[in-house]
Amino acid sequence: MNQTIEKGLPQLPESYWMATTPVTDYPSLESDIETDVAIVGGGLVGITLAWFLKKEGVKVIVIDADRIGQGTTGHTTAKITSQHSLIYDRIITKFSREKAMQYASANETAIRTISEIIEDNDIQCDFCSQPAYVYTLMDEYVKKIEDEVSAANSSGIKAVYLDSIPLPFSVKAAMRFDNQAQFHPRKYLLALAKKIPGKGSFIFEKTKAVDLHEGATCSVITDKGHKISASRVILASHYPFYDRHGLYFARLYPERSYALGVKICGEYPGGMYITAEDPARSLRSQPDSNGEIVIIGGEHHKTGHGGNTFIHYEILRDFSYSIYDVKQITNRWSTQDYTTMDELPYAGFITSDRNNIFVATGFGKWGMTNSTASAMLIRDLILKGNSPWSSVYDPSRFNPGASAKNFVVENADVAKSLVSGILNTNPPEADLQPGEGRITEIDDKKVGAYRDEKGKLHLVNTACTHLGCELKWNSAELSWDCPCHGSRFTYEGDIIEGPALKSIKKS
Ligand SMILES: Cc1cc2nc3c(=O)[nH]c(=O)nc-3n(C[C@H](O)[C@H](O)[C@H](O)COP(=O)(O)OP(=O)(O)OC[C@H]3O[C@@H](n4cnc5c(N)ncnc54)[C@H](O)[C@@H]3O)c2cc1C
Ligand code: FES
Repeated sequence: MNQTIEKGLPQLPESYWMATTPVTDYPSLESDIETDVAIVGGGLVGITLAWFLKKEGVKVIVIDADRIGQGTTGHTTAKITSQHSLIYDRIITKFSREKAMQYASANETAIRTISEIIEDNDIQCDFCSQPAYVYTLMDEYVKKIEDEVSAANSSGIKAVYLDSIPLPFSVKAAMRFDNQAQFHPRKYLLALAKKIPGKGSFIFEKTKAVDLHEGATCSVITDKGHKISASRVILASHYPFYDRHGLYFARLYPERSYALGVKICGEYPGGMYITAEDPARSLRSQPDSNGEIVIIGGEHHKTGHGGNTFIHYEILRDFSYSIYDVKQITNRWSTQDYTTMDELPYAGFITSDRNNIFVATGFGKWGMTNSTASAMLIRDLILKGNSPWSSVYDPSRFNPGASAKNFVVENADVAKSLVSGILNTNPPEADLQPGEGRITEIDDKKVGAYRDEKGKLHLVNTACTHLGCELKWNSAELSWDCPCHGSRFTYEGDIIEGPALKSIKKS
């Protein structure tokens, strides 16, 4: 996979985490089955929660539409931190200091919990303690950093104001949280997953949930028509696959970001970094069999709104060369995460009147600690009936002051995408080059056309099978991406991720 081009980028996207761990091979579900708790989705939320519950003697079944740990968790940058850019000042201003304290406590507890799980279970996942920094290159952000330092301190986290950082450039201001951490997310997740099967608990891969029948006993219906009967169901599918009550399609929006694995001459100074402002830049290191790589990330945009997506990798490549003497770029990858309209995650009962269906989503690119905290929160709701963090993560909340702007902007975007679709009326046979894709018109019908490197033309219907928005071509990942709620499809029309449950039709 990692064919590298001189001073360039790998030809194909593959995350460092995927490239350095084996593919799993859990069986798929081939009959009806009963359990205590059915968990849909084998990412960090699903596997962590399954592990917590099994430890307490609860029978669990985790199903994954594909293979576990290959979704966003397999493509993250895996900083384990309660420092989520500039968040505490925003929570205090838009919600309350009490909520900021809950959020700080949840995320700091998650760091300690991940560390304890790793130590108690002797998990080899390159976990190490690191300081986390937010920095700014802009004068107008200096005051925001000052405010964030005092907001974090008043929320229970020790934050330090700085006017320089260990990276090889000067900054206008920065802040540091100590005792944060980083790890290899797939080494961690796969080790936890191994402990789940047995004593009535199972993991099933290549088993997609396509429906849910509610009741005192719920039934998750799979794509092969089998039924998982459970007294409780957890929607841990990143975007909740069942959306009959929560209206998540109007309350979450997907954003993609990009990352490079970079080998540099000289030593990386340690630490995890992120800019306060756009363009976002994120850095951390990762030990590798031949030394270490630096993971350099950034360049976020709403899914399906990225234009020529390859440019984002090129910008990150140029940034890497501008700050380091680069030996090689070993990996490039991108992935997406959902953000809620008020920018705090949803974890808990799917609606206030349903106490046996749970959801965890909307981590806004801070899902290492937030997914662990969500798993702890849902475990406590199941086993004890309450959690100290339920109010800040409450999926039923609607805070108009904190949500209104994003709600209007994101849903206006959806409306536009239902009718858009930039059309090129030249038939693809005429001028589509190998490696190119676009929307075109054949016999008065819009189709998505991609010509592969061997010259074969692949035509698909570009209406998203979720709610019908017009798909956009993603040139860097060779996929059709939905600008509305983030469903993605291969150039042959198969589902990669997102809320859509059906492939797009080949034209
Ligand atoms: C570029 C980027 C960098 C990031 N870096 C960081 C970071 O440094 N620190 C941090 O804290 N967070 C980070 N995040 C966020 C974090 O990676 C995510 O929030 C987290 O991994 C989400 O985990 P999850 O379990 O919810 O989802 P996923 O890992 O996507 O797992 C969901 C699973 O559900 C399965 N599934 C979906 N639909 C179905 C269905 N119908 N039936 C069965 N299974 C289904 C999928 O196959 C998938 O395996 C980053 C995000 C991005 C986009
Ligand atoms: S219309 Fe919702 S994901 Fe495409």
